Amino acid sequence: MRRFLKKITHPFLKLGLKLFYLKPRKYTYDKIEVKVHPDVFPPHLTLSTKVLLDFIKPMNLKNKIFLELGCGSGIISLFASKKGAIVTSTDINQTALQYLKKASENNNLKVELVLSDLFDNLKNRTFEYIIINPPYYPKKPKNIKEQAWFCGENFEYFEKLFEQLSTHIAKSYCTYMILSEDCNIQYIKSIALTSNHTFETVLEKKIFGETNYIFKINTNKKIQQ
Ligand SMILES: C[S@@+](CC[C@H](N)C(=O)[O-])C[C@H]1O[C@@H](n2cnc3c(N)ncnc32)[C@H](O)[C@@H]1O
Repeated sequence: MRRFLKKITHPFLKLGLKLFYLKPRKYTYDKIEVKVHPDVFPPHLTLSTKVLLDFIKPMNLKNKIFLELGCGSGIISLFASKKGAIVTSTDINQTALQYLKKASENNNLKVELVLSDLFDNLKNRTFEYIIINPPYYPKKPKNIKEQAWFCGENFEYFEKLFEQLSTHIAKSYCTYMILSEDCNIQYIKSIALTSNHTFETVLEKKIFGETNYIFKINTNKKIQQ
């Protein structure tokens, strides 16, 4: 059961997801409703989105400058907006942003939408909170839908992310990233370290036998490689 839930590459899970996502599906949190297109990351059957939503719930986000990097359905962005944050939502997936635009109108919650490969279209912008639920399986994505899951054969997503990150986070504020025990956390940490980022575990949550970790990413100017 545990392996079944964890391995998105498992053929049964793949088939289940395919059948479930033949049409857009609704997802709700705290009375916010989004429609999730079949080409967009599904928050329903995975655990990470809900863990992040519950994590930001007690945070005071009033007037905080908040970025959801790779927003997918945008449910986290809309919830942050409801909590008073000034939200920017980015994704490389145009369909995700089109659906989020509709959801933001329907829920009467404001978010700024930016189509961007990581920080490419966020030049000279800094944020107080950055929330990332990254793709982490090491494989080359074949299409836009797979970009939600696969980070490139050699973890290229993380190479670029950590290179760009330091210049976009406002001083003394936070970047939070969720990762599952199902991915190569040690390797991702080692990539982060090459651009002087270290991980601090701020949450560890086991659901259906799978442990998810939320890490605060610290930038340490003193570490020399
Ligand atoms: C695991 S999903 C998370 C979606 C959403 N944040 C959530 O928690 O439900 C990863 C998201 O990152 C996006 N993504 C992948 N590579 C990206 C890149 N290079 N730049 C921006 N977004 C990217 C995917 O399209 C997908 O929406």
